[in-house]
Amino acid sequence: MVATCASEISEEYDRASELKAFDESKAGVKGLVDAGVSKVPRMFIQPPDNLRTCSPQFSFPVIDLHGMDSDPIRRKEIVEMVREASETWGFFTVVNHGIPESVLEEMMDGTRRFYEQDIEVKKKFYSRDLSRKVIYNSNLNLYISKAANWRDTFYCLMSPQPLNPQELPATCRDILMEYKEKIMGLGLKLLELISEALCLNPNHLKDMDCAEGLLILCHYYPACPQPELTMASTRHSDNDFLTILLQDQIGGLQVLHQDQWVDIPPVPGALVINVGDLLQLITNDRFKSVEHRVLANRRGPRVSVACFFSTCHLPSSKLYGPIKELLSEENPPKYRETTVRDYALYLRSKGLGGTSALPHFKL
Ligand code: OGA
Ligand code: NI
Repeated sequence: MVATCASEISEEYDRASELKAFDESKAGVKGLVDAGVSKVPRMFIQPPDNLRTCSPQFSFPVIDLHGMDSDPIRRKEIVEMVREASETWGFFTVVNHGIPESVLEEMMDGTRRFYEQDIEVKKKFYSRDLSRKVIYNSNLNLYISKAANWRDTFYCLMSPQPLNPQELPATCRDILMEYKEKIMGLGLKLLELISEALCLNPNHLKDMDCAEGLLILCHYYPACPQPELTMASTRHSDNDFLTILLQDQIGGLQVLHQDQWVDIPPVPGALVINVGDLLQLITNDRFKSVEHRVLANRRGPRVSVACFFSTCHLPSSKLYGPIKELLSEENPPKYRETTVRDYALYLRSKGLGGTSALPHFKL
């Protein structure tokens, strides 16, 4: 009995010091790979019950936005596809979204340049202080999660307060400023389509300030020597209104659909859109915030850029609950009202683990 406790404690201790040494290296997962690790260190090893199979029987929705602003008939069709995808998958890919492919390419190149620059310059951005607007680290929840992910992340808070470009790393400064503008524009268009899909006034979600806050997360997933032992990103749902994701051609992103993991295949020039927890809450469960994950890969690095529409970093007292226009006697509110910040704080205090905080806010 005593021996068991002692060994448990020493295991805990080993893990704690392993995490600390990794964090203090400020070099992230890329640092491990650059140093030539041939085995995945224990702190990254996932419990073995993780289902890795992927179901090929479903085809993931791809929506062509061409004509959405010029052709009213086409717009109706697009709105219908957005509604269907948001209700069933919580995810869809968009093409002809108006952001030039050269901008997407440069955003991914800028992300690679940031990670692949001189480590001493990169280290200056390494921090776990979430009150800072621009930080880089590995695993935002490193000390909370049970197994670390094979991933490094660079994070910047672009809106509502304008970010001084000088705070951004020189390696990707210009493209981040340009990308932010383009994503804001697309985000507002998508919120119009989503509002219409809910039979609301096109400006409804914009007027609720769903596009007020914008966070950009540039992820870097180095090649992994033992991809079957770890995850690039463990299953989770997104804690925002809407996410616009740019992924490169490596693949590995999967969404949980009808209890099966389905690949979200990379499409050149496309963007992946997904419903976040807060959109599920305000639509009273009509649109779904669905769990997704990223598999680790022997090939790499994989690069992705996730844009989160959320104001979770703002101390706003604005309350969000199910939209009144969507409620009726047959569809009473399922959630109590919350501020975006309280939702995020509750999620953080719970230590994530992938499960959504939505049930906590159910009536
Ligand atoms: C995220 C996310 C997926 C990816 O940042 O929340 O799910 O492909 N990213 O990086
Ligand atoms: Ni996500």
